[in-house]
Amino acid sequence: MPYPYQITSLEQYHNDYKRSVEEPETFWADVAENFYWRKKWDRVLEWNFTEPKIEWFKGGKLNITENCIDRHLEKLGDKPALIWVPNDPEDRTRIVTYNRLHKRVCQFAQVLINNGVQKGDRVCIYMGMVPELSYAVLGCARIGAIHSVIFGGFSAQSIADRLYDAQAEFIVTCDGAYRGNKDIPLKSIIDDALIGNRTIKRVIVYTRTRTPVSMLKGRDVWWEDEMEHAEAQIEKDNVITMPATEMDAEDPLFILYTSGSTGKPKGVVHSIAGYMVWTNYTFVNTFQYKPGDVFFCTADIGWITGHSYILYGPLSAGGTSVMFEGVPTFPDAGRFWDIVDKHKVNILYTAPTAIRSLMSYGLDPLKGKDLSTLKVLGTVGEPINEEAWHWYDDNIGKNKCPVVDTWWQTETGGTLITNMAGVTPAKPGWATLPMPGVQPLLVDENGKEVTEPNADGLLKGNLCIKAPWPGILRTTYGDHERCRTNYFATYENLYFTGDGALKDKDGNFRITGRVDDVLNISGHRIGTAELENAINMHAGVIESAVVGYPHDIKGQGIYAYVIYGHMHGDEEQTRKDIFQTVSRVIGAIAKPDKIQFVTGLPKTRSGKIMRRILRKIADGETENLGDISTLLDPGVVEEIKNGKL
Ligand code: WTA
Repeated sequence: MPYPYQITSLEQYHNDYKRSVEEPETFWADVAENFYWRKKWDRVLEWNFTEPKIEWFKGGKLNITENCIDRHLEKLGDKPALIWVPNDPEDRTRIVTYNRLHKRVCQFAQVLINNGVQKGDRVCIYMGMVPELSYAVLGCARIGAIHSVIFGGFSAQSIADRLYDAQAEFIVTCDGAYRGNKDIPLKSIIDDALIGNRTIKRVIVYTRTRTPVSMLKGRDVWWEDEMEHAEAQIEKDNVITMPATEMDAEDPLFILYTSGSTGKPKGVVHSIAGYMVWTNYTFVNTFQYKPGDVFFCTADIGWITGHSYILYGPLSAGGTSVMFEGVPTFPDAGRFWDIVDKHKVNILYTAPTAIRSLMSYGLDPLKGKDLSTLKVLGTVGEPINEEAWHWYDDNIGKNKCPVVDTWWQTETGGTLITNMAGVTPAKPGWATLPMPGVQPLLVDENGKEVTEPNADGLLKGNLCIKAPWPGILRTTYGDHERCRTNYFATYENLYFTGDGALKDKDGNFRITGRVDDVLNISGHRIGTAELENAINMHAGVIESAVVGYPHDIKGQGIYAYVIYGHMHGDEEQTRKDIFQTVSRVIGAIAKPDKIQFVTGLPKTRSGKIMRRILRKIADGETENLGDISTLLDPGVVEEIKNGKL
């Protein structure tokens, strides 16, 4: 049985799309009817993009965990909600049924209450990919606390900045996390982040690696002790009593920090009802999920993809979601295929980076792996090159599984432009058509809609969206003006994505990449300004400029041009010193791939760095650098070209 709002034919897609644009309020009310509301909404949609103010299902009362868990218990209580796959294949897999998930989430919600967490409080979650991370996230949602998950690759400094920005008072973490053959000492990183911190009241520590940890009396408590205590409070005769807090549709659900073109990451805020409807609707339609399917999204819950398509989307649909603790190449490059084989995965959703990395190991890791359960493949996070697309289609899908190329962003909550598996046509390298409710258009620099095709018959421009869909961000935490200037002020009355795109005559979109100063490294966003700030914090650095360059596996690599003072040791040692500083300031994920030492940077007379030139040089282009006559010192270009790494 498909879901009532599941689109099952191309014709229905066109009809639904048309209706979603012509009468959005009745369209989304019909979808929202399929959820559990304590009280229905008064108004489906109210909005303007000038403030911006966006309100979906205003007046509605609900709790998202009742939609993700409680309402499934009667029919699906014994069915797996999560299949947790440990880093080490020799360790025990954990199947978390809906009943078990309910119990654990309720227990943890009680733990939060016992530790003084109230509705609206910010709880920072810095954990590895263990089931307890899901209990922590959903436990927050159950009592209306706002979760802010921080990816395990961020440094103490990054955590401290985020804790401060979110004014968080509570942290949930692990002693350590396993990732491939590494143990990451999460609690110790948290301890560093908390030096001098006066706002954090409580740190709850789950034991995963049993790494020695410091536990400060009065501040740090063990997860296991707290859970045991909570269990005794909420369970009597095998019945769990832990009511969910009634929330307003527009109350914030979570904050997730993401990089933009300015120096400091911003806290993207999603609110409850719109995000719930959107992740569910896009999950069911993009992947054509059918009850009983096993869905495997390989992302980390530290990123939006994990929030939306490991947890909220699949769980709100009563689905079964695989949660994987490890990395694709541990213990060997056949790990994903093992998981698909062993757990009979039907839908696999991963990043082009992972595909390209696995491609480089050849077909040996696929030998003896039964992938016949796969029905649908998906990609996310960055443009996919045709070679990787075909490798995925040929070798993993055996040309029998539709491949969906899903374009979306942290700010959009769920997929916006994508084909729908087997329903709308795929086109390698193209994200194709918008989801119902999404009205994309391409504009030129002045915000004028592009209507003239280029020589290839394609429209080319900056990608904007005309009207709100339920999953759009509502604000950036603590700074609404920043939300306005970042997304709604570049072009009047439009949401600006920061991406460039092409559109063909059939209405398909191809995303070409960021047009702002944001890099996409292995599908992770990092701002060049943020990177430059980190590099400039290194003692010997006088100035730096960072650009992206094409990288075979990562999609984009980080190329840094650095003007340096007196070196202690040779260039190689100095590079390593700079890596250390960047790892401290942002985290290991931001390590530059290349650092070229230069004596000057190409600047205009007004002092602006001409990144266009630096990008071209990093890309291996030595001729056609464009007009360099406006540079303060055109001679520097020659030096940079000669020193290219
Ligand atoms: C890029 C990840 C091309 C894009 C869900 C976007 C993509 C940024 C695709 C958001 C895709 C994401 N094709 N580019 N299918 N999906 N992007 O916030 O540049 O981590 O703006 O969200 O990734 O990254 P974020």
